[in-house]
Amino acid sequence: MFYEPKAGHPLPHNPFKACVAPRPIGWISTLSRDGVVNLAPFSFFNAVHDDPPIVLFSATGKHIEGSLKDTAINARETGEFVYNMATWDLREQMNRTSASVARSVDEFELAGLEKAPSKIVKPPRVAASPVQLECRTIHTLELSPLNTVVFGEVVGVHIDERILTEGRIDLSKAMPIARLGYMEYSVVREIFEMNRP
Ligand SMILES: Cc1cc2nc3c(=O)[nH]c(=O)nc-3n(C[C@H](O)[C@H](O)[C@H](O)COP(=O)(O)O)c2cc1C
Repeated sequence: MFYEPKAGHPLPHNPFKACVAPRPIGWISTLSRDGVVNLAPFSFFNAVHDDPPIVLFSATGKHIEGSLKDTAINARETGEFVYNMATWDLREQMNRTSASVARSVDEFELAGLEKAPSKIVKPPRVAASPVQLECRTIHTLELSPLNTVVFGEVVGVHIDERILTEGRIDLSKAMPIARLGYMEYSVVREIFEMNRP
């Protein structure tokens, strides 16, 4: 089958997100200018460069109180955010932090998550997450009034040593989750290696 998105799609549910899957989940913590802590998951997220390490996330649609989503506003205004790895063990808490709530709500508290202080930036980290990246916003790109892509340079990397095996991150221990299409998710349980030619 073939369709042109501008003309709609011929299936009962929009298949687009399932066409680009799995997508890693950037579980992003930020602070507002007034110091309100914020945490939300973004599957329009990825690493886009490794030296220096750069990640991006994309906020689409409106916050319930109007204008952009908090995470994008905070990362732009304060110039800082933290990526936390979303894992199988933290899936329910991750999901809870996606609730549409007032700007004044601290989603760590909403989801019962403990905070860990960051070393370089101000937003806290999700203590239970096995990998966190402290980021400085280097660029924001407004694709439309309600779609902003935020690029961040990773300035600090935290790795829980319990997920290391012989000095390598062992993702079968961390079990990151990823977003598929619809309401579907995937979890990293099967890993294979392949050498480049
Ligand atoms: C797994 C998952 C992935 C999500 N990915 C995105 C995304 O890439 N972009 C986006 O704008 N919203 C995404 N959302 C919805 C946001 O998390 C949600 O709108 C959240 O309330 C935004 O919070 P904020 O206003 O505090 O930034 C996702 C939700 C879930 C559960």
